Amino acid sequence: PFEWYKQKRENEPIYFDEKSGQWNAFLYDDVSYILSNYEQFSSARYQAEERDPFGNSLLFIDPPKHKQMRDLVNKSFTPKVMRSWEPRIEYISDTLIEDMIEKTTIELVNDFSMPLPVIVIANMLGVPTEELHLFKKWSDQMVEGDYNASEEEIKITREKYVNTMKELFHYFSEIINHKKNHLQEDIISILLQAEVDGKKVSDEELIGFCILLLVAGNETTTNLITNAVYTLLDEQDSFYKLKQNLQLLPSAIEEVLRHRSPIQSMNRKVKKDMEFRGVQLKEGDLINAFIGSANRDESKFLQADQFMIDRDPNHHIAFGSGIHFCLGAPLARMEARIALKKLIESFPNMHFSDDMEIQPINSMVVYGLKKLPIQK
Ligand code: HEM
Repeated sequence: PFEWYKQKRENEPIYFDEKSGQWNAFLYDDVSYILSNYEQFSSARYQAEERDPFGNSLLFIDPPKHKQMRDLVNKSFTPKVMRSWEPRIEYISDTLIEDMIEKTTIELVNDFSMPLPVIVIANMLGVPTEELHLFKKWSDQMVEGDYNASEEEIKITREKYVNTMKELFHYFSEIINHKKNHLQEDIISILLQAEVDGKKVSDEELIGFCILLLVAGNETTTNLITNAVYTLLDEQDSFYKLKQNLQLLPSAIEEVLRHRSPIQSMNRKVKKDMEFRGVQLKEGDLINAFIGSANRDESKFLQADQFMIDRDPNHHIAFGSGIHFCLGAPLARMEARIALKKLIESFPNMHFSDDMEIQPINSMVVYGLKKLPIQK
């Protein structure tokens, strides 16, 4: 999409797409403004039904409700809580790598970058790992559907969504009820005890939050790890530099986040009629803010299309901007750092394999690969 973004930034940095009936914004300043300015651009962008815990979760609400919820869940995502998970994440990575050592060709997505975040989040939530295949199925179903779908397809997707939601609701209700009498150290248990201004989280809110973590946390982190490995195999000089000096890992990860952002766009709903960069926006209009384009904006990043492993400064907005800034950013960064360190140490000579094709994900929102075969 990067060539298309460039043309848009140069010629039509904000434009209305007739086919989807939505606005699209491409410049760094506009994208960060749209994402962070909640008084003009609302996150309550869909008509969520009352009993749609995901549609009413953190990601889709505005202040003041957003602040209450966010204050509650911040507690389970502090740097200190995250650090306490580090040994566990190392252990999970080691186990996955051990299995890969026995294979001749590795398919990185299925063998590693997909299971890792799923197992991590299941552990953090304190749910049994036997049900991981369900987690994967559910999170895939939640993000299905594309901009060009026909009305019939939209209807089917909607029905599937409602069904998935019912299954998820049932699944997490049982877990929560059980945990109420068996509190432990996991996130669900922490949240069952959390209070802000004397107010506790309702079961419905808790279920919505669990679903959000499942959806927001898994595929994004999978793609960050996959995109990082792809980049290193594609940019041999950077890979060499990194192997010489693993201290570069955090800055390499930031650069992957900028250069191949796992989330390319997020949308908002226009709250009131207004003029914005010379166009007239109407209340209720939807607008896509292209994070992936903002992160390649030449007026903000020198040689924006180049991957520079030690880029500094690097103020990308891959995790969003403002009050909705990604809650899971410290976790995603830590997971990616551990994952890449272990992969590089175990397979220092890894390279692309010719056995299978590399398959990109076809989406305007998610940027990553369905399959990345590699040879050790
Ligand atoms: C929000 C990206 C990993 C949980 C966001 C937003 C972005 C984002 C762009 C802002 C959405 C908006 O403004 O509407 C990413 C990327 C990730 C990642 C690129 C991985 C590389 C995670 C993980 C978790 C997580 C691992 C949790 C386990 C959340 C939550 C929100 C959020 C709960 C909503 C925050 C709010 O609305 O206040 N993420 N995310 N994310 N992310 Fe992430």
